[in-house]
Amino acid sequence: MSATSRHAYRAASVAERPRVWVSQPLFDDIVSRLHAYFDVVQAPDVREHDEAAIAAALREVDGALVTLNERIGEREIANAPKLRAVANVGVGYDNLDVGALQSRGIVATNTPDVLTETTADFGFALMMAAARRVTESERHLRGGKWTGWNFKGLLGADLHRSTLGILGMGRIGQGIAKRASGFDMQVLYHNRSRLPADVEGAYKASYVDFDTLLARADHLVLVLPYSPQTHHIVDAAALAKMKPTATLTNIARGGIVDEAALAEALGSGRLAAAALDVFEGEPAVDPRLLALDNIVLTPHIASGSLSTRRAMVTLAVDNLIAALGAGPDAGRPPTPIVPVTQGGDAGKRAGAA
Ligand code: DGY
Repeated sequence: MSATSRHAYRAASVAERPRVWVSQPLFDDIVSRLHAYFDVVQAPDVREHDEAAIAAALREVDGALVTLNERIGEREIANAPKLRAVANVGVGYDNLDVGALQSRGIVATNTPDVLTETTADFGFALMMAAARRVTESERHLRGGKWTGWNFKGLLGADLHRSTLGILGMGRIGQGIAKRASGFDMQVLYHNRSRLPADVEGAYKASYVDFDTLLARADHLVLVLPYSPQTHHIVDAAALAKMKPTATLTNIARGGIVDEAALAEALGSGRLAAAALDVFEGEPAVDPRLLALDNIVLTPHIASGSLSTRRAMVTLAVDNLIAALGAGPDAGRPPTPIVPVTQGGDAGKRAGAA
């Protein structure tokens, strides 16, 4: 091969190298695996990418590694002719219009399983914090209000031997049920579809309808997918059906709960306490919630242990490499989002925190 043709060959292979967009800095040592196959365009910092910025980023790339901060739908992909894969770093994918992506032949993937246990741990921690008034007590102490041991001060509710209600009995819901057995809790659940008897048996969980779940739970945890069908499924009417002594914990998506109705129920004593890790207008939090003492508020960190966040990025990188036809699993991304029209458990996975 002459020097000129060698140069031409190199230029052609460089031009053919697929290009991917990484929407925010993740873990460099993991994301750097992309460099073996692709040219990587990396956003320099964590920022809110608006529709125009996302559309501009997607215009020139074959694939994208994104987080729940990036909403990707028809408008964002309208001028992205080369786009073939979007790998979401997260199990919930309500930030993606999967139908729009799939109708363009773009593969969408998410990161189930790797965050199940960590997220279930945190759901349990939040439920316990709400029931036992952990953060409220800390504020009390730090605020200099603790004047001495008080027999009747800051009394909470027990978890052990109480009734746990789980709305959304997918992987994370089952993880919470598993933990509940160590607390001798009675586990009730409601789900789009009832689980097989052996799975119910394994978690000692009983299926009930939604209204019964609301009425009987001492502690209700939300772990269901967010969709137009589940928007504000916990509204004023639902809250009115709960016990006034109950707690509500949301680790799924903020839009599942009508936050104004929740603030009203907590403020009026209609509901004892709540814990929210997710919010409808993240990162904004309704000031009516911020003003309350009987609520634990955390900034969407349920999957946020170091090892789990690393595992999520690893899986998303594997997905992107494979979805773009490279690497050992070329063409077979480990966790594609199953098109809803083909059945599968996509709906069950969507939105679970
Ligand atoms: C998810 O994975 O859906 C979480 O909400 C973000 O970690």
